[in-house]
Parts: sequence; structure tokens; C-alpha cells
Amino acid sequence: MDNYILITGASSGVGRETAIRLSSNHNLIINGRNLERLNQTKELCDKTHDVIIWARDLSEVDELESEFAAWIKERRLPIGSFVHCAGMLEMMPLRAVSLGILQKSYALHVFAPAIIVKVLSSRKFNGQNLKSVVFISSNVSERGASAFSVYGSSKAALDGLTRNLAVELAPRVRINSILPGGMVTQMTEEILADESFRKQSESQYPLGMGKPENIASVVEFLLSEGSAWITGQSITVDGGRTINISSGKRT
Ligand SMILES: NC(=O)c1ccc[n+]([C@@H]2O[C@H](COP(=O)([O-])OP(=O)(O)OC[C@H]3O[C@@H](n4cnc5c(N)ncnc54)[C@H](OP(=O)(O)O)[C@@H]3O)[C@@H](O)[C@H]2O)c1
Repeated sequence: MDNYILITGASSGVGRETAIRLSSNHNLIINGRNLERLNQTKELCDKTHDVIIWARDLSEVDELESEFAAWIKERRLPIGSFVHCAGMLEMMPLRAVSLGILQKSYALHVFAPAIIVKVLSSRKFNGQNLKSVVFISSNVSERGASAFSVYGSSKAALDGLTRNLAVELAPRVRINSILPGGMVTQMTEEILADESFRKQSESQYPLGMGKPENIASVVEFLLSEGSAWITGQSITVDGGRTINISSGKRT
């Protein structure tokens, strides 16, 4: 049986685009919470390979390890790659931050991918099938922005997880993260609906703002043999946003 790629956050945005792109050559397991939108993703995928839906809230981490291990064991699915796209954007000043919000963000962005990699790298549950992992982080993980303490710090922890697991699981498993800049997806559509904010944001991107396909193509590369000597890296893919120190609008 050909190996499967597990993609979380596949009901929308980057995860959906990644699923569609990879479906022409790979079997997939797609995760999200919204079953209707997961089915829509499945419909958009190439029909020549399997697409299996695993609907589950990944911020509920207490039973995740045992449930996920039982789920893959029961189905005997060999999983060769894992792409963690699931994410939530909580923008708020520190005075509005609660322990509950911190826990939910860290559960989804850090604890869930750590537990999933633990299960997938276990010989008991997945043999020696796991070869490559890509975590979708954010370009704010290496920088700072007002109202981003919850989101940015949890994405920074995800990059730390990338480096430490890359060393621990080498040479069998490669692990990298991608740090996207701003894209128009369900996550950002409300913020970017404000015309003047959108224009001001766009002006900071030398290559313009991104699209999910700009990230999906890099995921494909990081899962492929072409990146066989790359591990533990956090790769910024943001249209030049974070190297741009010009002031004012571009002409
Ligand atoms: N858009 C941007 O500008 C941007 C910039 C930098 C980084 N990113 C990162 O890129 C990744 C993809 O984001 P996107 O822009 O594609 O956003 P999106 O369209 O809102 O997609 C987010 C995905 O995460 C899933 N998800 C959210 N909470 C979940 C939970 N508790 N359990 C399981 N799945 C959950 C959603 O599925 P359900 O709703 O079905 O649960 C959805 O499929 C995220 O990690 C995000 O942080 C995005």
C-alpha cells in the first residue's frame, strides 16, 4: 500500500490548497473540525488516490494520543508524511489574554503536532513509515507585533519543536517549518475586509500579499526528495515582507 500524507487544517485555506495539490500523487488523510468543508476539500481533490477524512478538534489534547493511535492502528494506514496547517489567529492586547486562550492556542499550535509526531514516529503504531514533517508557523514567530503575544509565542514554540525534533528523529525523519506572511484566507478575511488596512498591509509586501498556493508549493518541496538534506529549518515565505525596511509606500 502507498503511504499516506496527513494534512491538518485541510478544510480551508493553506491546508485545503495543499491537499488539492498533493492529491494527484499521494493518498491523503485530511483533518479539520468542519465535516462539510472537509467533504468539499475531498471533492476538489484528484480522484486517483485515496482521501480519508479524520474530523477532530485538535485543541482538545487530553485524549489525543490514545485516540489517534487507536484510529491509525485500526485502519492500518501507513503514514509517510505529516503537514500541520491547523491554526487559529487570536489577536488581542495582553490585558485581554486569559489562561484559557493561551492554553487553546498552545494546544493547537504546539501540543497537538508534538503528540501527532510522537504517535507517527512510534514503530508500534506506524512502523518506520514516517519520513517528513512540515509545520505551518508564521513570520511573526521570529519577530514581534502588538496584539500577537498569544499567536506569535505559540508559533515560536512550534519552530522550537521543529529544531529539537529534527535532531532527535534524524536521520529517518526530516522536520521543517514554513513561516508564511499575510494571505487572504478565512483566517484573515475579516481583518483584511477593511479597505484602508488592506492597502496599508499590501504596501509592505514587495511581491504583494500571498495566496495559499504560494505555501502549498513549498510544502510539496519540503516533503520531496529534492529537500533530502534540509531539516530543522524555519523557512520564511512572505513575499519579502520581513526583509523590507523601506518606509512609506512603494512607488
Ligand atoms: N492566512 C495568513 O495570513 C497566515 C499567515 C501566517 C501563517 N498562517 C498559518 O497558516 C495556517 C493555515 O491558515 P489559513 O490561513 O489557511 O487559515 P484558515 O483558512 O482559517 O484555515 C485554518 C484551518 O485550521 C483548522 N482548525 C482551526 N482550529 C482547529 C482545531 N481546533 N482543530 C482542528 N482544526 C482546526 C480549520 O478547520 P476547521 O474550521 O474545520 O476546524 C481550518 O482548516 C495556520 O497555521 C496559520 O496560523 C496563516
